[in-house]
Amino acid sequence: MNEFKPGLEGVVAFETQIAEPDREGGALRYRGVDIEELVGRFRYEQVWGLLVDESFEPGMPDPEPYEPKHLSGDAPSDLQAETAHLSSEWGLRKLVDIDAQEARDDLARLSAQMMAIVARSARVADGHDDPISEDVVAEGETAAEKFLLRWRGETDAKHAQAIDTYWICTAEHGLNASTFTARIVASTGADCGAAMSAAVGALSGPLHGGAPARILPMLDAVARTGDPEGYVRDLLARHERIMGFGHRIYRAEDPRARLLRAAAKELGAARFEVAEELERVALAALREYKPDRPLETNVEFWSAVVLDVAGIPHELTPAMFACARVAGWSAHILEEKRTGRLIRPSARYVGPSTRPASSVGGALVPS
Ligand code: COA
Repeated sequence: MNEFKPGLEGVVAFETQIAEPDREGGALRYRGVDIEELVGRFRYEQVWGLLVDESFEPGMPDPEPYEPKHLSGDAPSDLQAETAHLSSEWGLRKLVDIDAQEARDDLARLSAQMMAIVARSARVADGHDDPISEDVVAEGETAAEKFLLRWRGETDAKHAQAIDTYWICTAEHGLNASTFTARIVASTGADCGAAMSAAVGALSGPLHGGAPARILPMLDAVARTGDPEGYVRDLLARHERIMGFGHRIYRAEDPRARLLRAAAKELGAARFEVAEELERVALAALREYKPDRPLETNVEFWSAVVLDVAGIPHELTPAMFACARVAGWSAHILEEKRTGRLIRPSARYVGPSTRPASSVGGALVPS
């Protein structure tokens, strides 16, 4: 029971009813519903409803009028700071002092506003300080269309579909670093803004969010040389990893990769052919390289190609991931509130044994 597991790998810390990555079957289910059934049939805001309320309706609302305090154009830090600020701006009450319905309503307001903050931050990054009027934004029908309108002042059916598909596929995936963070903060009874902004901080690290940024340069390198075999062979000979392949959980194909590949094809993604060719060559090489370890295509590979359809710049990918994850975080914060148990693991002390203060460097020891 007291065995130390670096990185907590394999440690079961919670029971959850929210999402079920099916390790062997290569499927991902939200509240029991396979994501294959969701993409193309439901919009992201309805999937938010499925994850948070276990009902597609009413789903995630539109954001209410709000003027962010300070946007730098760096979307993850803008999102983290502005979300924390909403706690005081809206007077959000502590989770311990409100009931589940009130917490759910706070999370709905926050989720919607967080998407608007990312869109506004992306607009600042593009050099525009002027917000798009709410009348123009209201012309959009879906959360993805409104996001694009709030960012660029215009929308496009393919761009919106690409974003909607990406958001649905990445809306929730169990207990990763940001979701764990959200649950830890929620377990202290803090308000929902504190839990959501802490999750954004965890997701801003390159090991968790935004890895698609590394895929496009790889595709461009292969397109330039026209030699995917040589590219993959050289990488593996140097014992480097092929980005977009392998997964901690899935031993079969990552189901999100499958769906995003189909979306990239349907949307006529500019890099579809080169990505498909590289995938074919990489999978064959990886099977030879590690015959005993299934290394299949993961979500990052085809996310990069799909987000590229909507012209999402590399720097914005972690914040796009955060937009998708507001659903999963909200669902987990509510689930954590129901357990009502403070998360407090232990650490095994391996520091110096008992010693006098005078043995510590720099100590001013009275003579
Ligand atoms: N390319 C080449 N070799 C890979 C590989 C890849 N994409 N993924 C794993 N391997 C190899 C490792 O080098 C290791 O070999 P070794 O035993 O000789 O050292 C072996 O497979 C096991 O690797 P490990 O890191 O323990 O596997 P994991 O299942 O815990 O790792 C990832 C999962 C995602 C971290 C890993 O597959 C990876 O780094 N992939 C590339 C980066 C990526 O796509 N990240 C986005 C993830 S969604």
